[in-house]
Amino acid sequence: MSDIIDANIEVHEALLAAGEYQKSPHRRPENIAKVARKINEQTYGDKVIKHLDIGCGDGFIFECYRNAKLQFGVDASSGMLREAQKKFPDIEFLLASAYGLPFSDCEFDLVTCYSFLDHLENRTQCYKEVLRVLRPGGKFFFGLSPNSRFISSGCGTV
Ligand SMILES: C[S@@+](CC[C@H](N)C(=O)[O-])C[C@H]1O[C@@H](n2cnc3c(N)ncnc32)[C@H](O)[C@@H]1O
Repeated sequence: MSDIIDANIEVHEALLAAGEYQKSPHRRPENIAKVARKINEQTYGDKVIKHLDIGCGDGFIFECYRNAKLQFGVDASSGMLREAQKKFPDIEFLLASAYGLPFSDCEFDLVTCYSFLDHLENRTQCYKEVLRVLRPGGKFFFGLSPNSRFISSGCGTV
């Protein structure tokens, strides 16, 4: 891991323990509905068999999207993953870095990253991993800095 990943783990676990992470503006019901609609529009309805969320935290994206048959979440923080696993016992969560995903090539129909890519010091390496694990024609859905846009736009949906 790296200093930046360690800092990410420390900050997110502290926010979670203080009950602050759960209050992030992107968790508002109107944003959850919007993210759900966007993912469904861009995917294949019920044809997504395998879905991976990278930087899944405590499982936000799974509050938005449950249509895939098999779902996986990856995060560098074991504290965030524990919380996610409590909420979604049927989803497989793995402790790993976005720079080296513990999956084979071409495994996924859909990869998502939400409120996550802006936390990376090496986005290119993450994109390489996304491309590697996506099957040809698979979809990549991402949202960047949703909270800052949410706030600066007067709390409209992102
Ligand atoms: C702002 S949170 C977003 C969590 C979730 N996607 C959401 O929307 O609520 C960013 C997450 O990225 C994780 N993270 C940061 N750097 C990472 C890396 N290099 N690999 C995997 N996870 C990482 C953190 O532990 C944290 O859970």
